Amino acid sequence: MAKKILITGGAGFIGSHVVRLFVAKYPDYQIFNLDKLTYAGNLANLTDIEDAPNYTFVKGDITDAAFLDQLFQEQNFDGVIHLAAESHVDRSITDPMAFVMTNVVGTVNLLNAAKNSWQSDFSGKRFYHVSTDEVYGSLHNPEDFFVETTPYDPQSPYSASKAASDHFVRAYGNTYKLPVVLSNCSNNYGPNHFPEKLIPLMIHNIQTNKPLPVYGKGENVRDWLYVIDHARAIDTIYHNGKNGDTYNIGGFNEWKNIDLVNLLCSIMDRKLGRPEGTSAQLITYVTDRAGHDLRYAIDASKLMNELGWKPSLQFEEGLEKTVDWFLANQDWLENVTSGAYQKYYDSMYENR
Ligand SMILES: NC(=O)c1ccc[n+]([C@@H]2O[C@H](COP(=O)([O-])OP(=O)(O)OC[C@H]3O[C@@H](n4cnc5c(N)ncnc54)[C@H](O)[C@@H]3O)[C@@H](O)[C@H]2O)c1
Repeated sequence: MAKKILITGGAGFIGSHVVRLFVAKYPDYQIFNLDKLTYAGNLANLTDIEDAPNYTFVKGDITDAAFLDQLFQEQNFDGVIHLAAESHVDRSITDPMAFVMTNVVGTVNLLNAAKNSWQSDFSGKRFYHVSTDEVYGSLHNPEDFFVETTPYDPQSPYSASKAASDHFVRAYGNTYKLPVVLSNCSNNYGPNHFPEKLIPLMIHNIQTNKPLPVYGKGENVRDWLYVIDHARAIDTIYHNGKNGDTYNIGGFNEWKNIDLVNLLCSIMDRKLGRPEGTSAQLITYVTDRAGHDLRYAIDASKLMNELGWKPSLQFEEGLEKTVDWFLANQDWLENVTSGAYQKYYDSMYENR
């Protein structure tokens, strides 16, 4: 019988790439995409596979326990890949409770629905929780990397909510023997990235000659991974990871924000036929984000050595592909930046 896999948050940035990969690579699986379609969820991310015979979209909210229980009873899923979340740190500072509800309560609801539907018969079952490196807090020593045993030290409401959800997933593994696996990944970039995040925001603002808001002095360091490489890692871990284990995912690709923005400016000058240096003049330093972690860096050796995954793209190549995608998909950008998002966007950035 075909495997039935529930992917949550499949209309979002990373989830849409995971859904696309699974639908194309596993024609024998039935892939269900459960998404509430918040401001960040967009079915336009999936138009190329929406008619695939092994794909079903379900609109729903993971904070609704009764709805989840009914869905799991009806469908008897073999596996869950859980990506649905509130994911933007700035929003978590203005509205932490939304993050508690979706990221913590929603995750526990899903764990309960899986536990109730599987009723201790866990053969062939798997609950995969997708998380972030932000749960580890900030690195201060330039030699240090986050490894799977680094103690949790979340600093923002977003990372605190993801840390709490990670703890619940591990607790269900320990207490009820639910077959769980987790991953913690660094910053993703690539096609379909929602334009409130650094790279698409900069591409959009350069194109429209708006200021490029850089927090503080731009010294914060992040590790960047092409989103399709994250989706490939999720495929590898879902199929080959060990129950109860955690895998760090990252690109060994650290960039200071200001260096990254300058690189993007220079790529965009070339693509738009502007004299070198034009876009960099739009850089505007703005008051630093409250509690802004200085540096994140992931050691992905365990995933590479034990499961044989490695990133497929160099950063410059991935960034070029990303810029090309955004320039070729203006309709997508206009669609997702209209309406409610536009109001939020204006209030966040226009007066800086
Ligand atoms: N973006 C990154 O760089 C990054 C890095 C590491 C880990 N992650 C994790 O990966 C996952 C996906 O991140 P993303 O950047 O694709 O996020 P995203 O914001 O682009 O997508 C989140 C999706 O979840 C859906 N959703 C939100 N609340 C929901 C609810 N209550 N019920 C059902 N669906 C709901 C949204 O509609 C959206 O489609 C998150 O768990 C995030 O913590 C993200």
